[in-house]
Formats: sequence, C-alpha cells, structure tokens
Amino acid sequence: MMTSRAVIYACSHRRGGNSDRAAQWLAAGVREAGGQADILYVRDHEVRPCLACGYCDEPGGRRGRDLCVLGPGDAAWDLFEPLLTARAVLFASPIYFYHLPSMFKTWIDRSQQFWAARAEGAPWLTELPRRTARAVFLAGRPRGDKLFEGATVTLKYFLHNFAMPLDEPLAFRGVDEPDDLTGRTEREAITGLGRHAWEEAS
Ligand SMILES: Cc1cc2nc3c(=O)[nH]c(=O)nc-3n(C[C@H](O)[C@H](O)[C@H](O)COP(=O)(O)O)c2cc1C
Repeated sequence: MMTSRAVIYACSHRRGGNSDRAAQWLAAGVREAGGQADILYVRDHEVRPCLACGYCDEPGGRRGRDLCVLGPGDAAWDLFEPLLTARAVLFASPIYFYHLPSMFKTWIDRSQQFWAARAEGAPWLTELPRRTARAVFLAGRPRGDKLFEGATVTLKYFLHNFAMPLDEPLAFRGVDEPDDLTGRTEREAITGLGRHAWEEAS
C-alpha cells in the first residue's frame, strides 16, 4: 500500500555535504507543495554486498525479506520498503569515479532479488503503480562529457524493477567542497524539483 509521504535517498558517504543539502532542499520543495518527506541517509544503513549465490533466481513465491539469502540480516530491506511504498521517490547523490558511490551501488546490487521476482511475474511487484523518480547529481569536476552517464544508466535500470521511470536528472558540476552548493539558483532548481515531484504524485 502506498504511503502519503515522499522518500529522499541521500547517497553520499560524507555527512553534511552537498548531497545532504540537496536532499534537504528536495524535502523543502515537497513541503512547499503540501507533502511530507523522509530523508534516508544510505551511509547509515549497513548493507551487505550481493553474494551472487543464485538464491533469488528462483523466488518460487517467496517475498519480502525472504527473497534474498541474506534475508533480514542487514538493513537492505529497511531501504527497499520505502522504495516500494512511497508516493514519490527522489535521490541526491554525488558522483564517485564517474558513477554512484559504492555504498549506494552495494544496495542497488541487492535489488537483483526484485529483478528475479519481476521475471517470475510476482504481482506485488508487477502491479506497483507507475511513479516517476527524480535525482540530483553533484560532481566536483567542472567538465566531462560523460560525467553523469554511468550514474544515470545504473539508476534508470535499478528503478525499472520498481516500475519507476527516471526523469532526466538535475546535474551540477564544479561542486566539490562540502559547502559548494550554496547558490540561490541551485537552491531554487532543487526545491523546484521537490515541489514538482510532489505535485505530480498527488
Ligand atoms: C571517492 C570519490 C570519487 C570522486 N569521483 C569524482 C568523479 O569521478 N568526478 C567528479 O566530478 N567528482 C568526483 N568526486 C568529487 C565529488 O563528486 C564531489 O566532491 C561532490 O560534491 C561530493 O558530494 P557530497 O558533498 O555530497 O559528498 C569524487 C569524490 C570522492 C570522495
């Protein structure tokens, strides 16, 4: 069942940096549009890496925390649950080596269990309502044609398993020191994205 809240995943390993600020501005935008948002800091959730053991290849009707052999042994499902139930889903993430940060990617790899459940036609997954996800990316380098390409493709196919198309991410370059994201233009763009996400979801 869908909740009446938005969830924002803040994906940096650095506390109090640009992604955290972007997540707060997204939440402010959701509030401006009349909604409520929970910010989840991925770094605060201990997620074990996918073992590539094949256990989830045959879900056989299993669901929830039983889908993965690691089961309830870590916090992966604490992050998945809001992804399945939030009315609006947003991400704020830095770029690390042209990609998503490793803690975030470790969690994404654990979603292989959803890929398998979807392939089996699990109705609790295939019948999820279509929700458009939004992302803000922050990168230290001022240039680079493909700076956001890897992160965008991975996020897009991760979300596909949850029936969520990804809108074109809002991407900022030359944002490196923890306080680099302070401009009014950036703030307006990011809160505007949060506002728009909630308005569209309502
Ligand atoms: C491990 C690591 C790898 C990084 N790789 C890149 C990169 O490939 N390209 C880039 O533009 N910035 C890179 N950066 C810089 C971050 O994207 C930048 O500092 C960003 O603002 C960090 O966001 P945060 O404050 O939310 O942690 C990297 C930073 C770290 C810590």
